[in-house]
Amino acid sequence: MPGLEGPLDYSKEPPRHPCLQINAKEPFNAEPPRSLLVSSYVTPVDLFYKRNHGPIPIVDDLERYCFSISGLIKNPKKLFMKDIWMLPKYNVAATLQCAGNRRTAMSKTRKVKGVGWDVSALGNAVWGGAKLADVLELVGIPNLTSTTQSGGKHVEFVSIDKCKEENGGPYKASIPLSQATNPDADVLLAYEMNGETLNRDHGYPLRVVVPGIIGARSVKWIDSINIIAEECQGFFMQKDYKMFPPTVDWDNINWASRRPQMDFPVQSVICSLEDVNTIKPGKVKISGYAVSGGGRGIERVDVSIDGGKTWMEASRYQKTGIPYIADGINSDKWAWVLFEVTVDVTQSTEIVAKAVDIASNVQPEKVEDIWNLRGILNTSWHRVQVRVGHSNM
Ligand code: MTE
Repeated sequence: MPGLEGPLDYSKEPPRHPCLQINAKEPFNAEPPRSLLVSSYVTPVDLFYKRNHGPIPIVDDLERYCFSISGLIKNPKKLFMKDIWMLPKYNVAATLQCAGNRRTAMSKTRKVKGVGWDVSALGNAVWGGAKLADVLELVGIPNLTSTTQSGGKHVEFVSIDKCKEENGGPYKASIPLSQATNPDADVLLAYEMNGETLNRDHGYPLRVVVPGIIGARSVKWIDSINIIAEECQGFFMQKDYKMFPPTVDWDNINWASRRPQMDFPVQSVICSLEDVNTIKPGKVKISGYAVSGGGRGIERVDVSIDGGKTWMEASRYQKTGIPYIADGINSDKWAWVLFEVTVDVTQSTEIVAKAVDIASNVQPEKVEDIWNLRGILNTSWHRVQVRVGHSNM
């Protein structure tokens, strides 16, 4: 499409914040230090994790930039930014989490393939844009449609970046049409992040944000949208981001036997401590984040200071001055919850966190039980070691 270009190499990458921990340089994959991650409810754009599979696209002329909506519909259309800006604008607070978050820890149990991530491959932003449901109405697809008259059941988002996994082709993914046309699902074509124009790393000029499912489906730098009968057949839907049981390895994998991962399970992580810490005996503040997929709120976060034998409940919060209620109308249902509890540590021990969502789903205890060859969705209890000493503090 005119106006937007996917470079072949990494000579024109945007500037990035020096404190990001770089997990891969080209394509650029980086996350903030865990202590900074939970210092604010809304993650500053600079500190938001960056997950890419190719060089970052460049807009050469925003006025010429347009994308097509076509496929199994009667009235295909080309849309320009002005068409999107004309639609009602929504601001949706939503946490985007990469399915590979905490992969490095899973790999310690048994090696997995993929970029290694600590615990910060996620962030919480206020995304501004048009609802995809409204955009699809422009091409004659009414709200709450699950099949178009010509048999379209999925909405495919195609980017312009050049990815080696797609043999130099663009990143793509799809979601069901029923989700795309449901205004309550809050799927956005976003042009703003935290009140600012989206930056290049995060999808300028236009990206999809699909709240409540793994970040892989929130395609950046939209080049075209297709209404299709089957889900997208691209690499990242069919040969990646699928969950296999621990018995499946690279010699017996059958990719077609599993569906693409969409929703994600409940997760919580302690961010105020590293994996191994030396602390003075006494009071320690434990803080971190908890989040679940599908818009399910966080019912409880439990913290243990004896490796999981006994537990105490942490306090949860989103916005200052507003008590967090897991399914409350004033809570941001697609966003994470931060938690905090002060504990008394008198001897060296293991501190653990686990969260429970409003469906009473609980994080699994052991990473071994959810090990999978691609290293996705490591949501096992989060454990950190503390050594009580008098040095280093
Ligand atoms: N969209 C395009 N075009 N190219 C990509 O590499 N990565 C996906 C998704 N959308 C990707 C993409 C993945 S795996 C994730 S987790 C999120 O974008 C990351 O979004 P962010 O970089 O804005 O944090």
